[in-house]
Amino acid sequence: VDIYFLFSGLIGRSWAMVFAAGGFKVKLYDIAQQQLTSALENIRKQMKELEESGFLKGALTAEQQLALISICTDLKAAVEGATFIQECTPENLELKRKIFGQLDLIVGDNVILSSSTSCLLPSKLFTGLKHVKQCIVSHPVNPPYFVPLVEIVPHPETDPSTTERTYALMKKIGQSPVKLNREIEGFVLNRLQYAVISESWRLVGEGVISPTDLDLVMSDGLGMRYAFIGPLETMHLNAEGISNYCERYREGMRHVLNTFGPVPEFSGEIEQKVNQAMSEKIPVVPKILDARRKWRDECLTGLAKMKTQMKSE
Ligand code: NAI
Repeated sequence: VDIYFLFSGLIGRSWAMVFAAGGFKVKLYDIAQQQLTSALENIRKQMKELEESGFLKGALTAEQQLALISICTDLKAAVEGATFIQECTPENLELKRKIFGQLDLIVGDNVILSSSTSCLLPSKLFTGLKHVKQCIVSHPVNPPYFVPLVEIVPHPETDPSTTERTYALMKKIGQSPVKLNREIEGFVLNRLQYAVISESWRLVGEGVISPTDLDLVMSDGLGMRYAFIGPLETMHLNAEGISNYCERYREGMRHVLNTFGPVPEFSGEIEQKVNQAMSEKIPVVPKILDARRKWRDECLTGLAKMKTQMKSE
């Protein structure tokens, strides 16, 4: 059985659960024993809860999945025998470069070194490493247990077989991988997200709509569709195919897009206005935020379940 090795923060724990659900052995590594012990406890609690509510992923029971996860505080021992290493340290270039530098010295020629980074480019992370051909970014979406997308982003020197193996592995554990042909700031998910955020910010800033109504446009409008089909298929279906859509709406789209404002500052009066509206709805208190996150995860779980059903029908 292949062995995987990770770090045990928020994303590391989630990855560990996803790999264990796929039936793979997982070794968690961290600098502090305490961090590892609490990670294991937290994973156990989450798996049990998921099992009780019928939402545990994979064919194995929670106990069987837990038995696949072990912990380790020695980097060398942790990577021994690993075929895939998913790094999940804090989003800090210097720290990540240091970790990959250490790994570079102790790994063999067959293991894949994969980073969870949300925005550091592979060329920043991996350039100069002896094993650069085996390096790749696998960017998950929080929480990866419920949201399956993984953006796979190669370094210019990454071997195509590394990309293919990572893609196949992600498929195997039930995630939904997409391949970027080259690196780009923000990858794809955050570029799309920032496009939406910036126009939302401008519309609220210009007083066109209230912050809470803006969010409804997404959650009760566009988002309903986007859970099943993307923007391009939307175009295809909203006319008699893409060419017909362009013929009909090209001018209109260009007209509207030409009225878009500049990149927002995300500060000052508009920030206060958005903050006030969001805080009224969801006060910034850890307990309340956590409850809302829990509710979000339950919604995502239900949606994931429904998507699976709709696919098999
Ligand atoms: P976190 O702060 O929860 O976890 C970081 C972990 O790294 C902790 O367990 C910490 O003990 C450990 N650590 C710190 N220094 C270390 C060192 N020198 N050696 C080994 N372990 C060390 O962070 P989180 O949120 O899990 O993020 C991890 C990565 O995942 C980041 O690159 C982040 O950009 C990425 N990511 C995070 C998402 C999120 O929404 N939280 C979503 C997608 C990617």
